[in-house]
Amino acid sequence: MEQMVSAEALRESEALHRITLQNMSDAVFITDDAGAFTFICPNVDVIFGHSQDDVRTMGRISRLLGANLIDPAELRRRGELRNIEHNIETKDGRTRCLLVHAKSVSIRGGSILYACRDITERKESERALSRNEQRLTLTLEAAGAGTWDWEASTGTITWSPEMQRILGDAAGILPPSFEAFLNRVHLSDRDRVARTMTSAMQQGDLYETAFRLSGSDSVERWVIAKGRGLKNGRPIRMLGVFVDVTDRHRVELALQELSGRFLSAQEQERSRLARELHDDVGQRLAMHAVETSILRQRANDGHDVRAGLATLANGLADSGTRLHQFAVSLHPARLEQLGFNGAIHHMCQDISEARGIDIDLSVVTLPEELPAHVTLCLYRCVQEALHNVVKHSGSSRASVTFSADADTITLRVMDEGMGFDPADLRPKDSLGLVSMRERARLVSGRLTLTSKRGEGTCVEVQVPLHPNQTPSL
Ligand SMILES: Nc1ncnc2c1ncn2[C@@H]1O[C@H](COP(=O)(O)OP(=O)(O)O)[C@@H](O)[C@H]1O
Ligand SMILES: [Mg+2]
Repeated sequence: MEQMVSAEALRESEALHRITLQNMSDAVFITDDAGAFTFICPNVDVIFGHSQDDVRTMGRISRLLGANLIDPAELRRRGELRNIEHNIETKDGRTRCLLVHAKSVSIRGGSILYACRDITERKESERALSRNEQRLTLTLEAAGAGTWDWEASTGTITWSPEMQRILGDAAGILPPSFEAFLNRVHLSDRDRVARTMTSAMQQGDLYETAFRLSGSDSVERWVIAKGRGLKNGRPIRMLGVFVDVTDRHRVELALQELSGRFLSAQEQERSRLARELHDDVGQRLAMHAVETSILRQRANDGHDVRAGLATLANGLADSGTRLHQFAVSLHPARLEQLGFNGAIHHMCQDISEARGIDIDLSVVTLPEELPAHVTLCLYRCVQEALHNVVKHSGSSRASVTFSADADTITLRVMDEGMGFDPADLRPKDSLGLVSMRERARLVSGRLTLTSKRGEGTCVEVQVPLHPNQTPSL
């Protein structure tokens, strides 16, 4: 009776093993020391595509898994070898990645048991994840962005390396806590930042805030922080991105300062024009009016006014010339009337006569049909550079040279005066140079300034003739 019960139990146990083996996705083999199969699981086709009979015909495990998968001596020594990653080719030629465990056993006349699990999908998703992470890291680095992860239960924060760079810390030096971070926030921003972030953490909300940080190198940086608190009833964690916008901020400040300078320069120019119109042309016209009424009175009284009229006519012609010069200084209509060469020639002559300097002008034959905005740029650059020679160089000579090749027109205005150190220039003090540079940039060209104390100054403006092919520098 007892024997019948134990035989029944054995049968049940074997049936259970068979069902388990048939339905699991792992493949199991047992071989002898020489690698010949002593057991092949019934579901071998799930991974390998080969039937149990196919594998039996192969005879040895090396035909299925390749030779040298395990070191038999090491297996004997350690009893089992786990987590061997191994690629195989299935019956229909697909490559699969397996995780193989080998174990020393003594079952069914065999001595080594192999359990193989197909981890191809897992490996592929791991690879995709790692590629995504690399891409994300690159994007964040390129954007000057750092990330942080604030764990609510422990209060610890994990910084990305970029975040450490923003904070000016070598990796790992900063204690990873919210307090340590707040200590780095500028005192005037600290309360606001603490409130915004703590509330986002408590409410599980989005936050976005801009503030100043000072790193361990005491350099002040402007950052924008964006992120979200995550909650599941209670706050769990907060993830965030920090973007270093210090450079952008500096540029914005410089631009603000510069546009302020431009506005005040415009205002100064307007008052100069008003003064000039009033003091010069206005006064002259008033004088002519008085002269005219005196002449009329004298004519009424029977006097000969011919000489007076001649003087008045000369005065009016003179006023006309002054008005004309004034109009030219507002917009060089000469460019349209005389063409580029003629206009530059006249301008140099005017400056030379008015300011008493010698100007050596050399203009090669320039391409015809230069666009109006290019000629205006070059005209204004010559004008400003020559005014600088007069105003700052102390020299009574200057040279203006135009040269051209198939792609570029180059203008050089040079003097051998006192020169200066361009590194000392602050943008807000050099509106003339800044506007020349801007004018050049607007026609896809560039300005190069060379000057040294005691060795004169050279302003070079290069303008491409085919701007679409020449990137703006
Ligand atoms: N040819 C030059 N020789 C000597 N210094 C010059 C010359 N051109 C420019 N500079 C220096 O560069 C500064 C900036 O010039 P600019 O931008 O034209 O402004 P501004 O003429 O209004 O001073 C000048 O103040 C002067 O110090
Ligand atoms: Mg100037």
